[in-house]
Amino acid sequence: MHVPGDPFAEDGALEAFADGALALADGRVLEAGDFGELRRRHPQAEIDDRRGALILPGFVDTHVHYPQVPVLGGIGMPLLAWLERRTLPEEARFADTAYAAAAARTFLRLLAANGTTSALVFGAHFAPAMERFFAEAERSGLRIAAGLTVADRNLRAELHTRPERALAEGLELARAWHGRGRLRYAVTPRFALSSGEGLLEACGELAAAVPGVLVTSHLNEAPEEIAAVRAQFPWAEDYLATYDRFGLVGERSVFAHDVHPGDGELERLAARGAGVAHCPTSNVSLGSGLFPLRRHLAAGVRVALGTDVGAGTGFGMLKEARAAQQVQMLRQDGAVLDPARALYLATAAGARMLGLGHLVGDFRSGREADLVVLRAPRGSTLAERLATAADATDALGAAITLAGEESVEEVRVAGVVVHSTPTDPAGT
Ligand code: GUN
Ligand code: ZN
Repeated sequence: MHVPGDPFAEDGALEAFADGALALADGRVLEAGDFGELRRRHPQAEIDDRRGALILPGFVDTHVHYPQVPVLGGIGMPLLAWLERRTLPEEARFADTAYAAAAARTFLRLLAANGTTSALVFGAHFAPAMERFFAEAERSGLRIAAGLTVADRNLRAELHTRPERALAEGLELARAWHGRGRLRYAVTPRFALSSGEGLLEACGELAAAVPGVLVTSHLNEAPEEIAAVRAQFPWAEDYLATYDRFGLVGERSVFAHDVHPGDGELERLAARGAGVAHCPTSNVSLGSGLFPLRRHLAAGVRVALGTDVGAGTGFGMLKEARAAQQVQMLRQDGAVLDPARALYLATAAGARMLGLGHLVGDFRSGREADLVVLRAPRGSTLAERLATAADATDALGAAITLAGEESVEEVRVAGVVVHSTPTDPAGT
């Protein structure tokens, strides 16, 4: 199954084959279709039989924090208290480069184990930690964009840098890693609240100096945070203006959350082609609010999904899609998220937002073969539910609701296996 079209613009965007096949060559998709038909068209092809499994495009996580695996589950606090008490002390530990390297390996392994093949990753505040992260990311085979997270106020002293240093370290990391294999650099001011104007200016300079670089930050997440930003930037008409003034809002910019946008911000996000990473499990866990998806869509703002580990509930992108659906149901003006739209937000929408839409996100002919093979564990709720599925949409809804990392059998990037679990010899 995949969603090659835009399910928010057209019906029938989900393409599914009950007895399906993917014809692959040299790491690319030749075609997706019915097994019998593809068999006839490619009689010489070697067959890798995955009957009983569900094959989907690899997931695209547009917002996830590398240093935050150890704070998953730190529940019961709103954003600013959670940062101060729980998260920033952990992030300070990434000054220890050996600790950071081990954490990078774990983080990347978990991304792949959950079926994520592409991600825009919020980095650590320490350049040596990011050196090690990029080295591990290259080894992982995943498509990763990431950058040094920078701040120069309101966090804690160990996490603060200076504008000249942020620019110099960013340039150095980008020179070493941007465009190398599947890696790209992302200019990453943590959020306006932890940024002086000089630092945002340095970020703008870095973004302008490195062609094709991404920009990522947080935007309009929680009421207390938005009020603090307003007090800190009295000249700014709104939160987005704090980034916009410094050239940080463009086609390659991705802002996490935007739970409480003004109409003017939505208009400017759309006009610049900037994207919003919707992170529903984080938003409900921190009590940030219920994302106004319909307003984003109506304004023409690009939206995809992010897990926001560690404020979110884990790396599972299907779970995130399911949470997005639940959040919309809780809004008076909620958008309808059916299984096709939910899968689209977890795959092709993210690929396009990260500038990878020409390469991955669906199984159109010529795409690089990034895919996840889901197989329900024998006797699991998902296995029982799939056995009674009425059609493809029904099966996909069941998978979005019930498939976690225990159901991820194999994951490939450009046809190469980046994660696999031992297959069940008895079959399920
Ligand atoms: N705003 C600034 N930093 C963070 C973070 O680490 N997580 C979330 N959810 N919001 C932030
Ligand atoms: Zn975040």
